[in-house]
Amino acid sequence: MERENFGSRFGVLVAMAGSAIGLGNLWRFPYLVGSYGGAAFIFVYIFCVFLLCLPIFISEVTIGRRSHSNAFGAFKKLAPGTKWKWLGAVSVVTPVIVVSYYSVVGGWSVEYFLKAVTLEFTTGMSRSEMGMMFGKFISSVWSPLIGHTIFLLLTAFIVISGVKSGIEKFGKIMMPLLFVLIIVIAVRAATLPGAGEGLKYLFQPDFSKIDASVCAAALGQAFFSLSLGVGTILTYGSYVKKDENIIASSTYTASADFIFALLASCAIMPAVFAFGLNPQEGPGLVFETLPFIFSNMPLGWLVAILFFLALIVAALTSSISLYEVGVAYLVEEKKYSRRGASILIFVIAWVLGCLCSLSFGPLADLKIFGQTIFNLFDKVSANILMPVGGLLLVIFVGWVMKRADVIDEMTNGGRLKGNLWISGFVYFLIRYICPLAVVAVFLSALIF
Ligand code: TRP
Repeated sequence: MERENFGSRFGVLVAMAGSAIGLGNLWRFPYLVGSYGGAAFIFVYIFCVFLLCLPIFISEVTIGRRSHSNAFGAFKKLAPGTKWKWLGAVSVVTPVIVVSYYSVVGGWSVEYFLKAVTLEFTTGMSRSEMGMMFGKFISSVWSPLIGHTIFLLLTAFIVISGVKSGIEKFGKIMMPLLFVLIIVIAVRAATLPGAGEGLKYLFQPDFSKIDASVCAAALGQAFFSLSLGVGTILTYGSYVKKDENIIASSTYTASADFIFALLASCAIMPAVFAFGLNPQEGPGLVFETLPFIFSNMPLGWLVAILFFLALIVAALTSSISLYEVGVAYLVEEKKYSRRGASILIFVIAWVLGCLCSLSFGPLADLKIFGQTIFNLFDKVSANILMPVGGLLLVIFVGWVMKRADVIDEMTNGGRLKGNLWISGFVYFLIRYICPLAVVAVFLSALIF
């Protein structure tokens, strides 16, 4: 059977940017910016994205395109008969775990979108009432489960439609829409009275705030935001045609991801300041602070609808990339049909996701290693599986694959003359600098 590819350069870009841009940009990045000192954090983040994580991103794409295989098959092909296939196996299992809890949060976005549409935020509720409403919602049984089911069904539906007519087509329509939405919201926020303080907070760095914990948080976030270390970028890389410039596509993706995170902060921070709230709100930012702001600002009802729509779209384009990893594996290695593979992944992710969702309510007392199921999945994947996966991936490209092969892949067999010296530099980063940096994130995640 002919293997599918992305049809166009723009298609590659939207699919990869779709994977990268997600809850990490709209929810995690702004609250980290708030907690770690604003512009100074962003300053460090720029280095983390472009100097450390971009080379890792390029490594993943390189493995994918070199092997033209799913995450498991790639290592079997490039290092036959070695233990590296175990990295392939982990790269197939991790995304299924991630998609299960990602889909729970995606379900919250669906629910909050519906609340926005039915104008539930227009009543001028107080900040603490918003907090209570959220707490009550996630600890209930049915509504979050329904949201999770809807979100996962949407994901499965897009993936079943295929790489070109599902993933690529969806991205081509949704990614531009997402940028338009976030720009509209940012403009609304920036024109609120008192918004200037927020913009200053975002763009006037106070370098004295930079310390080890800021650097660790920035690097961890860059890693998370670029979807590294779990086989998704590898799998998407395997659908990139041989005549595409992978260094350029990766750089565009990282740039789009960074710009989107900045825009998301511009949509949120000025509003937080305009309402005299504390920027260090933490994880409750999106589902508690923001609805409060929306319910109290002029035209807030409309902004709320647009914002939660953006959240769903951003989360969906990321969850399809996670979902595709398992589907590609089942189709190529286990000879499933695309539909059969999608259904199997759906069942596994749905059951796991239900457990995650219930761990905020009826299963809250079920603790494994002292963590609820949701937190366990989140911590194990973000703090252990992703960095370890990323570390092994760069070691694979930097130390196991032949230098000539890596450069060959990055320059399309030497035809991309402009990439010749850049690929040498990227290779140097991959071989020496990135592994050290990832070890640093890993250790810091264990310490902090
Ligand atoms: N990058 C995604 C975001 O910003 C989250 C994410 C982390 C992810 N790892 C991933 C998405 C792996 C897809 C695949 O929300």
